Amino acid sequence: MTIHKAVIPAAGLGTRFLPATKSTPKEMLPVVDKPAIQYVVEEAVAAGLDDVLLITGRSKRTLADHFDAVPELEAVLEAKGDAERLAKVRESTELANVHFVRQGQPKGLGHAVLQAKRHVGDEPFAVLLGDDLIDERDDLLAPMLALQERLGGSVIALLEVPREQISSYGCAAVEALDGEDADTVRITGLVEKPPVDEAPSNLAIIGRYVLHPAVFEVLENTAPGRGGEIQLTDALATLMDLPAEQGGGVTGVVFRGRRYDTGDRLDYLKAVVRIAVDRPDLGPDFKEWLEKYVAGTTA
Ligand code: G1P
Repeated sequence: MTIHKAVIPAAGLGTRFLPATKSTPKEMLPVVDKPAIQYVVEEAVAAGLDDVLLITGRSKRTLADHFDAVPELEAVLEAKGDAERLAKVRESTELANVHFVRQGQPKGLGHAVLQAKRHVGDEPFAVLLGDDLIDERDDLLAPMLALQERLGGSVIALLEVPREQISSYGCAAVEALDGEDADTVRITGLVEKPPVDEAPSNLAIIGRYVLHPAVFEVLENTAPGRGGEIQLTDALATLMDLPAEQGGGVTGVVFRGRRYDTGDRLDYLKAVVRIAVDRPDLGPDFKEWLEKYVAGTTA
């Protein structure tokens, strides 16, 4: 079966970005000139997914508006003959079929994913977390989808992080998987945000998952975990031990490419600078200024 649905939880409160996120969802913060959420939807589409479900909270309206048409603005740009900006306006509308469901209460990532049950039905699907931006030049989701289609079960993305940072992430214990390359591993243990001295490895879960639909029933029976929230990591730990016929088994893919955490202010600034430097329209001028700025030769 070909996977074609993506679920993007976007109901977080964005407290790390206050006051910007007081009335604007964090997913709408621009990374250069595009809201973070659009990069994530573009990544899903580039991997072949054409049905996107956003799990929203209080932030529904601006997110929904961003993926909708804006006839007044389009008419003005059309009358001016500004084809370039018109294309930018229409880009997000034409990207994919974007659907919305509300989480209601912020009871955790696992609870957010559970809201997708009816929309997803009985097929494997991808989950993309909006705080993690994966550089479009580095492949991650497409190989994960292919791996799930080949091996079944669920697939999660892992990143080696400095050990002292592991307590900010879900952490995985892994072992080699016969017949696969060294970066494709069997998950043998999962723990959400462990204290550094209890972490089984320095492999952090990053926000890309391809999940077997068995995850829904598991989530329904997953008790609140760390932070009193229903954790996706805990549901995956249960799935890991289920037999393959019941949708069990979890495989990890160690990502070696460029990933930006736009949920963290410092990383967000780095993401903006890196992406701007690489943009053909802004990069050359920006880089020239940046080099002088860093060298202290310009203000
Ligand atoms: C969530 C997951 C965590 C994962 C992280 C990746 O945590 O619960 O397992 O490592 O995303 O970004 P959050 O960052 O939402 O607290």
